[in-house]
Amino acid sequence: MILFDSHAHLDFADYDDDRDEMIKRARAAGLVNIINVGFDLESSRKALRLAEKYDLIYAAVGVHPHVAGEVPPDYLRQLEQLAAHPKVVALGEMGLDYFRNRSPRPEQHKVFREQLALARKLNLPVIIHDREAHGDMMDILHQDGPFSAGGVIHCYSGSWEMAKECMSLGFYISIAGPVTFNNSNRLKDVAGRMPLNRLLIETDAPFLTPVPHRGKRNEPAFVQFTAAEVAAVKKLDSEELAKICTENGKALFRLNTIR
Ligand code: NI
Repeated sequence: MILFDSHAHLDFADYDDDRDEMIKRARAAGLVNIINVGFDLESSRKALRLAEKYDLIYAAVGVHPHVAGEVPPDYLRQLEQLAAHPKVVALGEMGLDYFRNRSPRPEQHKVFREQLALARKLNLPVIIHDREAHGDMMDILHQDGPFSAGGVIHCYSGSWEMAKECMSLGFYISIAGPVTFNNSNRLKDVAGRMPLNRLLIETDAPFLTPVPHRGKRNEPAFVQFTAAEVAAVKKLDSEELAKICTENGKALFRLNTIR
């Protein structure tokens, strides 16, 4: 199988004891690329270090809504400097999280929109986190676009109607491990309806571990179980589905072209 993990956090301390082994398992499972996504400035720097060390890893740099209230005044300048590195292929993750509300909403909005503006300026794709904030998310994406380099709504959790709206704005939809859970009927339905040319898969490792490893630490090798589930609901061969998602990932993050 040829696999592409569009969203992982392999810089997290969860992998400090076995990171090399975990990457070996990823290669053995068929991973050709992994996008390691930054959570804050420190994590973005670590993502870049991993991308320098492992050929299959590329980095995204950005500030997650959980920490939007804690950014230093010059964080945009720091992100722009990091983004100049050839292995940085996107800005993110960025967005809105009204489930945990770890940062005040006005700060989440400000930091999200400033990063969207930076992505437009740098012509880089965006990796978007949206949890329980669908209405405000769509308002902002409509107001702040168009996004010429596109982007992805990661760990998609919205409706089919919203997915269509996101795709009309040029976004890909990325499906994560929860699609393998028993109670994920709505997500399975969205995956079933998704046009193949807008579909990505991801782990969000170390979180959201798919069945049959649910409850344990997640890692990129497990994206094969998400591929198998999405293929099953689409009545496709899982190798074919995995190959299409790999081509989509390479297209969005421009991994086949010289930047
Ligand atoms: Ni994430």
